[in-house]
Amino acid sequence: MELLLTNARVVTMEPGATGYQLLENQFIAINGGTITHIAEQSGLANLRAVEVINCRSRLVTPGLIDCHTHLVFAGSRANEFDQRLKGVPYTEISQQGGGILATVRATREASEPELVELALPRLDGLIRSGVTSVEIKSGYGLSVDDELKMLRAAKALASKRPINITTTLLAAHAVPPEYHGRADDYITLVCEELIPAVAKQKLATSVDVFCESIGFHLEQTEKVFQAAVRHGLKVKGHTEQLSNLGGTALTARYNGLSADHLEYLDKAGVTALAGTDTVATLLPGAFYFLKETQKPPVPWLREQKVPMAVATDFNPGTSPFADIGLMMNMACTLFGLTPEEALRGVTVNAAKALGEDNIRGQLAPGFAADLCLWNVSDPTELSYQVGLPLLRQRIVNGEVCDD
Ligand code: NIG
Ligand code: FE
Repeated sequence: MELLLTNARVVTMEPGATGYQLLENQFIAINGGTITHIAEQSGLANLRAVEVINCRSRLVTPGLIDCHTHLVFAGSRANEFDQRLKGVPYTEISQQGGGILATVRATREASEPELVELALPRLDGLIRSGVTSVEIKSGYGLSVDDELKMLRAAKALASKRPINITTTLLAAHAVPPEYHGRADDYITLVCEELIPAVAKQKLATSVDVFCESIGFHLEQTEKVFQAAVRHGLKVKGHTEQLSNLGGTALTARYNGLSADHLEYLDKAGVTALAGTDTVATLLPGAFYFLKETQKPPVPWLREQKVPMAVATDFNPGTSPFADIGLMMNMACTLFGLTPEEALRGVTVNAAKALGEDNIRGQLAPGFAADLCLWNVSDPTELSYQVGLPLLRQRIVNGEVCDD
């Protein structure tokens, strides 16, 4: 054995189970980056390991997964925060060429190494809160070269910190200025040039679309989804964030990994998700920061057994919060999730939102050895306290991190 954790209080996050199913006095054996055994301490007798961590009854959970971020970008939007506090709506700022397009201008000017440097402190914030896997979207380049540059920068972060990185092409985030009034032509560029290039260079595993009045309408979204499927990429949607266009049902129809935001999702949309493999990803940071009042339909999602993920949506405009624990807290206080649902939302269900639920998000033999050892013993503490040093140690792919 390479690594052995002893005396652990384990939450495995087995899918479908109810309650935390806390296991006391466990050992976890890790070899080759994978969990090989989890069992009662009493069965440990003949296992030897190179390194042993005595958990002293502290909590061990799967490493946390932030399944929706826009971590790579340049510039700041603090000025827009000022504007919005004075009452100017997000949509109006966006229509005036601010919002996403302000970040596009700064990101286009930045080099790939600069984008990597700028993303590191954001990534470190997530790491401090227990994140071992993060999804990063493009979407502030909006040209072939700049979108590819963003995706390469996102992937390069994996060599700078011990963390798993998944990348998503979000070229259909906004209409770039040079395509003003020609959104369909831009969609053609996304479908005929960007998606094929990204698939060929293996720069992303999925494709996302901002399906919204200030983004792209349903037909444009479907064209992008069709191109993604043609090139063997999975789809995701920013859907029903500011209005109800039906993007969630479309995402489910294309066997999407996840439909994200969902504040304006109606009952028909929830029914469209029910029984599919598409995860409902809730982003309470954006809800809070935009001072939104319409909540995602959590009781209906729960009733229809739609798996719910929770993520930071870290971005400069609507969610500048690099702390997954804060999102768990907000998911409970703002959206009414239980702390157990919040923990499922950043582990097993977040893994499903990345199409990685067969290898991550749970503690079980055969799964990647991504774990968090916490300074607390009760899993509810993870949603309850924010900003305290709750995390003791991260283990990523069997490596003990020196964070
Ligand atoms: O997830 N909704 C669209 N995209 C981001 C916001 C991007 C921005 O404002 O820069 C989001 O909230
Ligand atoms: Fe987003």
